[in-house]
Amino acid sequence: MRGKIIGTGSFAPAKVLDNNDLANLVDTNDEWIRERTGVVRRHIIEDESVTSMGTAAAEQALKDSGMKAEEIDLIIASTISSNVILPCAACEIQKGIGAVNATCFDLNAACTGFVFAYNTAQAYIAAGIYKNVLVVGVEALSNLLNWEDRGTCILFGDGAGAAVLTAEEGTILPMVTHSDGSRGEALTCNSRHNKDWQEHLEDDSTYLQMHGQEVFKFAVRKVPEVIGEVLEQADISIEEIDLFVLHQANRRIVESVAKKLKQPIEKFPMNMHEYGNTSSASVGILLDELNREGKLKAGQKILLAGFGAGLSWGASLIEW
Ligand code: COA
Repeated sequence: MRGKIIGTGSFAPAKVLDNNDLANLVDTNDEWIRERTGVVRRHIIEDESVTSMGTAAAEQALKDSGMKAEEIDLIIASTISSNVILPCAACEIQKGIGAVNATCFDLNAACTGFVFAYNTAQAYIAAGIYKNVLVVGVEALSNLLNWEDRGTCILFGDGAGAAVLTAEEGTILPMVTHSDGSRGEALTCNSRHNKDWQEHLEDDSTYLQMHGQEVFKFAVRKVPEVIGEVLEQADISIEEIDLFVLHQANRRIVESVAKKLKQPIEKFPMNMHEYGNTSSASVGILLDELNREGKLKAGQKILLAGFGAGLSWGASLIEW
């Protein structure tokens, strides 16, 4: 057995901060941000939370799938920025949508989170343990940002993306994942709940910290590599891939991957101009936009790829 995506959904908060708004907060400007990152706007929570955004995206995905909430066997929520530690975000989403028969857990793989969650769903379906799985990538990264650090606050945004998978006949398609904890210091964020919390509370280490250039170099090297590994396992040529749905961190990263793979940039849809980097939500949001715009056709081969903190990276082949 293998999982097939039968529904997608997404949610972005109504409040928008554009690059000019950020230029009022830190020493930056619209031109610099556009040129270096491709980001123009990002959506930021006000009354929303990881729970409410995840629930909204999940509801849409369920509606799109035509499935009832009670039919969902498993909910995996990928998040690093939940307002909820206990119970987990997946349980909160379960409560929100009424998926009373689901088993629920969260997964932390940062910006690779949607791909890791999708792969975990596939593994459970292939093993015959669960039939219908809801995957949600959801982040309120604005909670983790130092709004005085122009190296990070310009990049990220909040939102949620979701997909419903159901079991179908067929062998599981190739998925390749990697992690390298020895390079974890490139992207860090200390918990505000450390036992030495009084020392760390609200100091810089409890905000998202990043060595931008190191992460950039890691991404442009590892993403083409892992896509190559998937293609080799699938025994197909790169020309057979219709679309590459990559984590939306930075336009220059996506362009560089396209160039390294010698593929036309048109095969790499992007929406970071609207949302910024929404970490584990980005692949789900983009997939949902493509789906709603009717750009995904039955039988198309699509490569999902994520990369980020951990370090972690991975890619999965899907057939629409
Ligand atoms: N606005 C204006 N100037 C800025 C700036 C900002 N927001 N941030 C940095 N600068 C300045 C720097 O101070 C530096 O100035 P200097 O040359 O006078 O010293 C100059 O711009 C270049 O800085 P640098 O850090 O080398 O920029 P960069 O080209 O590496 O771009 C990032 C910075 C963060 C956009 C880029 O490294 C990046 O996108 N990295 C990947 C990040 C990422 O995707 N992370 C998430 C992965 S999941």
